[in-house]
Amino acid sequence: MSNSSSVSMERPDPFTTCLVTGGAGFIGCAISARLAQAFGRVIAVDNLHPQIHPTRKRPEALDPAVQLVQADVTEPDTWDRLLGEFWPQVVIHLAAETGTGQSLTEGSRHALVNVVGTTQMLDGFARHQALPRRIVLSSSRAVYGEGAWRDSAGAERYPGQRSDRMLAAAEWDFPGMISESFVAGRTQTHPTSIYGATKLAQEHVLSSWTRSFNVALNVLRLQNVYGPGQSLSNPYTGIVSLFARMAKAGKSIPLYEDGAMRRDFVFITDVADAIIRCSVDEMSGVLADVGTGASISIAELAHEIAVIYGAPAPHVTGQYRNGDVRHAACSDASARAGLGWSAKVPVREGVRQLCAWIDQQPSELTKL
Ligand SMILES: NC(=O)c1ccc[n+]([C@@H]2O[C@H](COP(=O)([O-])OP(=O)(O)OC[C@H]3O[C@@H](n4cnc5c(N)ncnc54)[C@H](O)[C@@H]3O)[C@@H](O)[C@H]2O)c1
Repeated sequence: MSNSSSVSMERPDPFTTCLVTGGAGFIGCAISARLAQAFGRVIAVDNLHPQIHPTRKRPEALDPAVQLVQADVTEPDTWDRLLGEFWPQVVIHLAAETGTGQSLTEGSRHALVNVVGTTQMLDGFARHQALPRRIVLSSSRAVYGEGAWRDSAGAERYPGQRSDRMLAAAEWDFPGMISESFVAGRTQTHPTSIYGATKLAQEHVLSSWTRSFNVALNVLRLQNVYGPGQSLSNPYTGIVSLFARMAKAGKSIPLYEDGAMRRDFVFITDVADAIIRCSVDEMSGVLADVGTGASISIAELAHEIAVIYGAPAPHVTGQYRNGDVRHAACSDASARAGLGWSAKVPVREGVRQLCAWIDQQPSELTKL
C-alpha cells in the first residue's frame, strides 16, 4: 500500500484521461472541477437516471470541462463506443443504483447496474486492450451490515441481521450488546441489504480483476454522504435533505424505530477530497472507511434541523425498514493511514450549509 499525507493535488497531467462512471451524480459533480484541473481530459459516462435527474439534462454542477457521455454502463455497446475513442488511465467507478430499502424489492435492478455494470466495464477494458492504470471504487458502509458488537463479557460478536420478528416486537438492539465502529480490513462484511451485497460484490469483482491484470485498486467505503448538490427528487436516498425539507415545510420530522439509531454523516467536500487523493496520486491498495469517525443519533440530527427551521419537535413513529442497520459508524484510522485524510466539516456545520443550499433552490424542487 502506498501512502501519502502530503498530496500534490490538482497538478495538471495533460497526458492522462480520467473516466468517471456515474459522473453526473451527486459525488461525480462534486469532484468534477478538481478532476478537470488534475487531468488532461475527464469523461463522465452517465445515463442520467430519471430517479436522480428528472429533467434528464446535464447538471449545472458538472464542471464544463468534463465531457459527458450519456450512456448506460450495463450495455456492452457503451464500452465499445467509449473505448474505441478513449483510453482512460484512471477510472473512478461511481455509477450505481443506491436505494438501500428499494433494493429489497428491486434487487435485479441493483444487481444489474452495480454488479453487471462493473463486469461489463471490465470486459470492455479487456476487449479493447485498454487497461487503466488505476481504478477507484466508491464502496459503501453497507458492506458491513450490522458489523461487530461487544457482549457484556467484552467478547466481540457478529449478531447478524435483525429479523422481522425482532423489529415487529420493537426489539431494536441486540440484547446485552453494544455496537462497535467499523474498521476496514478488520470488521467482517455481512451486508443486510441487496444494495450492500452488490457493493461488496463490486469490491470482490474489482479486486480479483485488478490483481489478475496488475491494475491498482483503491476502495473507499463511504459512510452517509450529505451536502449541497444531493438529488432532491430521489425519494430513496438523502435522509438529511429529506429532514431539512420536512422541517422547512413546518412539519414534525418522523423518526423510525426509537430514533436512537446512529449514523456517521460525512460532508460532500470531505468525501470529494478523499476520492481526489487516491485518484490523482499514485496510490494503490487503499481500503479505507470514509467517515468523520463520530456518529450522531437520527433523533439528534432531526432535532438540529428542526431548530434551524423553527419546526415542531420530531416524533418517534416506531416504524422500521427491513434491511436497515441499527448503528453505522466507522473509525477514521484506515483513512488517516491509507489516504492521509480525515474529515474537516463537523456535522452541525455541514447541516447548516446543506440547509442554506436548500433554501436557495426553487420551491418546486424542495417541495415534499
Ligand atoms: N451518497 C452516499 O451517501 C453514498 C454512500 C456510500 C456509497 N456511495 C456510493 O457512491 C457512488 C455515487 O453515489 P452518489 O451519491 O453520487 O449517487 P447518485 O445517485 O447521485 O449518482 C449516481 C450516478 O450514477 C448514474 N447511473 C445510475 N445507473 C447508471 C447506469 N446504468 N449507467 C450509467 N450511469 C448510471 C446516475 O444517473 C447518477 O448520476 C455510488 O456508487 C454509491 O454506491 C454513496
